[in-house]
Amino acid sequence: MIDQATIQKIFDAADIYEVVSDFVSLKKRGINYVGCCPFHNEKTGSFTVSPAKGIYKCFGCGKGGNVVNFIMEHEQMSYVEALRYLAARYNILIEEKELSEEEKKEKSERESMLIVTNYAEDFFVSQLFDTDEGKSVGMSYLTRRGLDEETIKKFGLGYNPENWDSFTKSALEKGYKKEFLVKTGLTIESEKGLFDRFRARVMFPIRDIAGKIIAFGGRIMTNDKKSAKYLNSPESEIYHKSRTLYGIYFAKKSIIQQNRCYLVEGYLDVISFHRKGIENTVASSGTSLTIEQIRLIRRLTPNVTIIYDGDAAGIKASLRGIDLVLEEGLNVRVVSLPDGEDPDSFALSHTPEELLTYIQEHETDFINFKTKLLLGQAGDDPIEKAKLITDIVHSISLIPDAITRSVYVRETANMMKVEENILYNEIARLRTEKNTETAHKNYKTVQPQIKSAPQTPASQNYSNENLCEIEEMVLIRYLLLFGDLELYEETHEGITHSVSVGEYIIRELCEDDLELFNPGLCKIQNEYQNHYKTAGFIPAKFFIGHTDPSVSSIAANILSEPYELSKMWKIQDSASGSEENILSELLPKILDNYKMRRVEILTHEADDKILEHQKSGNTEEILFWIKQKNAINAIRLRLNEKLHRTGVTK
Ligand code: CTP
Ligand code: MN
Repeated sequence: MIDQATIQKIFDAADIYEVVSDFVSLKKRGINYVGCCPFHNEKTGSFTVSPAKGIYKCFGCGKGGNVVNFIMEHEQMSYVEALRYLAARYNILIEEKELSEEEKKEKSERESMLIVTNYAEDFFVSQLFDTDEGKSVGMSYLTRRGLDEETIKKFGLGYNPENWDSFTKSALEKGYKKEFLVKTGLTIESEKGLFDRFRARVMFPIRDIAGKIIAFGGRIMTNDKKSAKYLNSPESEIYHKSRTLYGIYFAKKSIIQQNRCYLVEGYLDVISFHRKGIENTVASSGTSLTIEQIRLIRRLTPNVTIIYDGDAAGIKASLRGIDLVLEEGLNVRVVSLPDGEDPDSFALSHTPEELLTYIQEHETDFINFKTKLLLGQAGDDPIEKAKLITDIVHSISLIPDAITRSVYVRETANMMKVEENILYNEIARLRTEKNTETAHKNYKTVQPQIKSAPQTPASQNYSNENLCEIEEMVLIRYLLLFGDLELYEETHEGITHSVSVGEYIIRELCEDDLELFNPGLCKIQNEYQNHYKTAGFIPAKFFIGHTDPSVSSIAANILSEPYELSKMWKIQDSASGSEENILSELLPKILDNYKMRRVEILTHEADDKILEHQKSGNTEEILFWIKQKNAINAIRLRLNEKLHRTGVTK
């Protein structure tokens, strides 16, 4: 844990221009710097760095934030990892917060295990390059598999000799503790003593997204059918197979830039693709994809192309993967390789251009892929064909986005010669079934985030957050930009007090007990309320440097909007002048308008409740909600009158 003062030191020292320049070539333009965005593929520079504000923002893809957000996003680090990175760059000594005994033990255990895996990699590499056995057995195998020295070194491939305890003995001699050799699974402890898990195998280090070695895969050199072809480290404190994608560390940058991830099956598939320059490739390592692996990809891109072997097992495996990937909202394409090829063999026998062309020409969306595949099996049998339609419709029903679903429905209707309506009905039925299931599961385990949000099915069609989001952004923008400016003076018991823009907004919201709907904006509202009275409080600085990355990135995004949100307002007879000058006129109207929005939502909620209780015949509840509605209506009339009088229309 890093203490607050150190975090502040890091924020003060880290210069956004310098830090970004390590990764992006920037050119000066006015008071800002501009370059090509590292987060999406572009030829013209939409990526802007503002040293004055301490933020970056891409007007192409929308990514933006402060210096820590940049490192988090670019290097795929956690908040703390990014702070450590910046501390190291600026030679800031990190003062650690006291850890609890439990935390200390956990941390030192993981660190000790990582030190061991690090040593193991070095050991295996030197065995491969510097020993006779390594060269004659390991290296000759890798060369036969078509790998060159550069690739072998990049991926840290190594070799562990046949002798039963080479690694363990060497590690103990060097002073590594037995406990951690065993915990990482590199050493096995038995009644007969300690021995190596991997023997006479070529070693593939497995890294997490930050590059730390968390496990190994070892490939046997012989064709011995009795031993497993690959042996992997066991699950441990540092290695969770289901959360790991082989190659992710070397692939992350390219996945972000290409905005696409190629998914293959094995270690050598990844390595061969990288070697051919297709670096946005990762592997699920033989098992079918897990949700955690898919989410890891989704952090980097929504576009996935699954490339599996052309044989039956490969196709089956990719079908299993598809439904999960669809459900997580990713766009899936599939490439089948020619029969008998796997990505590794195919990459080896083709040039990089041929490889890319093949992928691009054979990439099909999953509907096409699944339909063709199953259609071949179903032939003309009408019952089989009906089953096939049901199967595909099931896959479509998993896609979260309605527009994407409708594209697939059209395509399927065309291909299968059925009416779109029939497909839509089936999808609606499947989705309702699924919603009911999850609703049951979530019942009482999920607290509604928003106090007055309607929870009835009738109102699921509109989202409250979206209804008010623009209004809430406008309010937060004023808090951040002009929060500390004086709005007016008020005299209370003979004492004149200056009311700031921020204080006014916060007071107005408090008065009606209003918390913003959007959870991120609401956090800013609450933080503002807690801090605005502190001396020296500068809202923009406070929120851009905020230690909660969700808060700081919202702040950076709002502050870097190039246009004035308030321009969306048509203000009749309003004094001209800069936004800041007309605030005292503008703000009350904006707040009233926002309140009006909230009132509308409350009205919807009351209507829904009344309907709901009419169905169940609960007169007491009906009366209660009718009363509520009347009260809301009174507020609505009052606001309405005020808004018309002041002549604000939207
Ligand atoms: N795998 C595994 N354990 C096994 C077999 C396979 O962990 N006993 C994983 C490995 O990550 C392997 C992937 O599944 O790379 C694919 O397996 P397979 O297709 O059998 O091997 P290939 O990758 O083709 O291996 P090679 O090319 O080295 O024969
Ligand atoms: Mn293979």
